[in-house]
Amino acid sequence: PFILSIAGGGSTYTPGIVKSLMVRLADFPLAEIRLYDIDGERQSVIAPVVEKVIRDHSQSIKFTVTTDPEVAFSGAHFVFAQMRVGQYKMREQDEKIPLRHGVVGQETCGPGGLAYGLRTILPMVELCDFVERYAHQKAWIVNYSNPAAIVAEGVRRLRPNARVLNICDMPVAAMRNMGAILGVDRHKLEVDYFGLNHFGWFTRVLVDGEDRLPELRRHIAKFGLLTEDAAQTDPQHSDPSWVKTWRHIKPIMDHFPEFLPNPYLQYYLMPNDIVEHQNPDYTRANEVMDGREKKLFAAADEYKKTGILPDAFHVGVHGAFIVDVACSLAFDLRQRHLVIVENKGAIANLPYDAMVEVPAYITSEGPEPVRMGAVPLFHQTLLMQQLASEQLLVEATIEGSYEKALQAFTLNRTVPTMQHAKAILDDMIEANRDYWPKL
Ligand code: G6P
Ligand code: MN
Repeated sequence: PFILSIAGGGSTYTPGIVKSLMVRLADFPLAEIRLYDIDGERQSVIAPVVEKVIRDHSQSIKFTVTTDPEVAFSGAHFVFAQMRVGQYKMREQDEKIPLRHGVVGQETCGPGGLAYGLRTILPMVELCDFVERYAHQKAWIVNYSNPAAIVAEGVRRLRPNARVLNICDMPVAAMRNMGAILGVDRHKLEVDYFGLNHFGWFTRVLVDGEDRLPELRRHIAKFGLLTEDAAQTDPQHSDPSWVKTWRHIKPIMDHFPEFLPNPYLQYYLMPNDIVEHQNPDYTRANEVMDGREKKLFAAADEYKKTGILPDAFHVGVHGAFIVDVACSLAFDLRQRHLVIVENKGAIANLPYDAMVEVPAYITSEGPEPVRMGAVPLFHQTLLMQQLASEQLLVEATIEGSYEKALQAFTLNRTVPTMQHAKAILDDMIEANRDYWPKL
C-alpha cells in the first residue's frame, strides 16, 4: 500500500480528491494519506472533513496533517500537488487588474495566468526539491497546480529530471460531456487532441473504432458542450460562468468548423466579448469565494459542532482523473490519457521540447506521447505565439527580467497593445510584491 501526500491540503478540492481515492482503494491501495500546506490554519479546518471521508471507508489508513515538509514527504510514493500560491485573494487581483485596463481577467489565461505563473514556478520547484530530498526514490508528483502550462515549462527548465506529471481536468471534463451526448461512458472514448494546456483542439473522437466527431460537432453547434448529465455530476463546471464557457464553443465552431476547441480558447479568440460581459468588481474569484469556499467552510463548521457532515463538495472527473493517472503510473497500466508532456515530436511542427497537451500512454516511467502529426498553419501559429508568451514568462521568472515579462504580456493574444501590456504588468508588480521574484 502507498503513502500519498497531498500538497495544498487546505484546498477545498481535497475532500473530493480523497473521496475519489476511497472509492478506488481496491485499485490504488493506501497505507497513509498526508495533508501538507503552508497555511496550517486553513488546512486544520479542512482536515476533519477529509478524515471523516477516510473513516467512512477505512479504519486502517493512517492520516497525518502537517506543515513540515519532512513529515509530509518522507518515504512518500505519490504526491498530488494542487497549490494555489497567494490563494483566492491573489486570484482576485489576477482577474481584476487586467479588467481595469479593458483586458480579459482570468486565472490561467491572459495577464492573470502570467502573473499566477510568476508566483507559482519557484514554489513548485521547491516542492520538487522537498520530494527529491525526502520521498521514495521513485515517487511521482501528479500536479494539478495552475497555471499548468507555465508551471510545466518552469519545472522542465529548472528541474528537468523531476518525476512530475502535469495534468488538467478540462479535456477529461469535455470528454465526459461528449460521452454523455453519445450515450457512452467517457472511458470508452479514444480521442486525438493537440495543443497546450487550456489551448487546444480535439481532432478525433473514436468509439469502438468509429470517429464520432462529425456527429458531436453537429450536436455541439446547436446546443454547446454542456449536458444535463454533466450538470448533475459536476456542479462546479455547470454553474452560470461555466455554462457560458461551454456555450462559447458554438461561435468558435461557427467560424472555424473543424476540430472541437477547448472551451478556454474563448479567451484568446473572442476576448472583446468576454471583457464586455465580465464584471470588473465581481469576478470568478469572488463567485468561488462566496460559493464553493464558503459552502465547504460552513460544512466543516457544522460538522465540528454537530458531528454531521453536510453534502458540501463534489466528486467528479476532477478527483477520478487524478486517481486514474496515479493508477496507471503505479501499475504501469499504459492507459491513454490527455496530459501535459514534453512534445518530442508528438506535434510535428511545434518545437521538440515544448510542453504540449496530447494523448499519452502513462507507464510507470512516465508518459509516452502519441504522435498527432503536423497541425494546420492557423493552429500552429496560434500555438507558437502562446508558447512564446509562456516561455518568455518562464525566462522572466528565472532571470528576473522585466523586459522578458513585458514581452510575454505583449505577445499574449488577449492583450491588444504593448501599452496595455506595460500598464497591466506595472500594476501587477505592485500587487505581487510579496510573491514575485524581483523583476
Ligand atoms: C477547470 C480547469 C482548472 C481551473 C478550474 C477553475 O477545472 O481545468 O485549471 O482551475 O477550471 O474553476 P473555478 O470553478 O475555480 O473557476
Ligand atoms: Mn486546468
